[in-house]
Amino acid sequence: MQITLRQPDDWHLHLRDGDMLNAVAGVSAQHFGRALIMPNLVPPVVTGSDAIAYKSRIEAAVSRAMPGSSFQPLMTLYLTEQTSAEDVVNAAASGTILAVKLYPAGATTNSASGVTDVSRVMPVLESMAEHGVVLCVHGEVTDSNIDIFDREARFIDLVLDPLRRQLPELRVVMEHVTTRDGVQYVANSDTNLAATLTTHHLMINRNHLLVGGIRPHYYCLPIAKREEHRQALVAAACSGDARYFLGTDSAPHTRSTKESDCGCAGVFNAPNTMACLASVFEEAGALDNLEAFASLNGPAWYGLAPNEKTITLEKVGTPCVLPDPIVVGEDCVMPFDPARDIYWQVI
Ligand code: DOR
Ligand code: ZN
Repeated sequence: MQITLRQPDDWHLHLRDGDMLNAVAGVSAQHFGRALIMPNLVPPVVTGSDAIAYKSRIEAAVSRAMPGSSFQPLMTLYLTEQTSAEDVVNAAASGTILAVKLYPAGATTNSASGVTDVSRVMPVLESMAEHGVVLCVHGEVTDSNIDIFDREARFIDLVLDPLRRQLPELRVVMEHVTTRDGVQYVANSDTNLAATLTTHHLMINRNHLLVGGIRPHYYCLPIAKREEHRQALVAAACSGDARYFLGTDSAPHTRSTKESDCGCAGVFNAPNTMACLASVFEEAGALDNLEAFASLNGPAWYGLAPNEKTITLEKVGTPCVLPDPIVVGEDCVMPFDPARDIYWQVI
């Protein structure tokens, strides 16, 4: 059996910089037409001119890894409490950026320059609403007294819903939704709200992370939740509903920084996302909706045409082997292990 789709896009991707960028850029370019690039570098991508410079480093890395590739990085800015509304609006109007990313300060990798209180960035958000610039949100509260498994649900009640009531015209993407609460919040909204879903949150729950030994390569943020939440995410992704689309959150860290006494958060799923998704959608009886999720809903939300090219996936008789680790200097990045046999491959 084979299925052919419009070439997919990745609406949430970490490519890093320097040696890591050079090591991973070609991997996403192999399957994806475009990717929305996250700005959490050190220092972060804050201004329009930062984004222009970072984009050309990405393009150079992609053409070294895959000469002739048509892969297109789409840029975001990292929202800080010093961000200028004018710079954001100009960067969006000139096509330099497609969205702005809000990290609550301290929520995740390289989020120290993020936002401590949404009220401090209201003028920027008001300008974005006025000019139709999309806000991508890492939706977790960071209060130390709120349990890590509850941080997404609490963010909806304490931050996101009040913000959307105050600024209903703001177009918001809840990035990497991990809970039933998150998909229900999106399902109950009429307009101006969408969500990305990652490959790994569609495949693993917190038992995969913690039972039978701790698995640092499954540690990511937001953290994987209970199985009932994973099932709600699969139902949302497979529904065909235009408000849900693929954002892999593929986030490379070296093996030594993952397998450490304080391991980094992030799952590197760029090499096998499409094979994994075919497996998830097949199991849900929803292969017909894979194209909407991976290739159509994202561009529609961002006002872009779907890719012209296509990609073909084939069902094979024996389980596929895991992709090889990616070498970075003396170290490597381990690809996502989907914790089950996968019988699909991109041909
Ligand atoms: O697991 C994660 N890794 N979640 C994030 O929000 C950031 C990402 C990273 O940059 O490593
Ligand atoms: Zn991310």
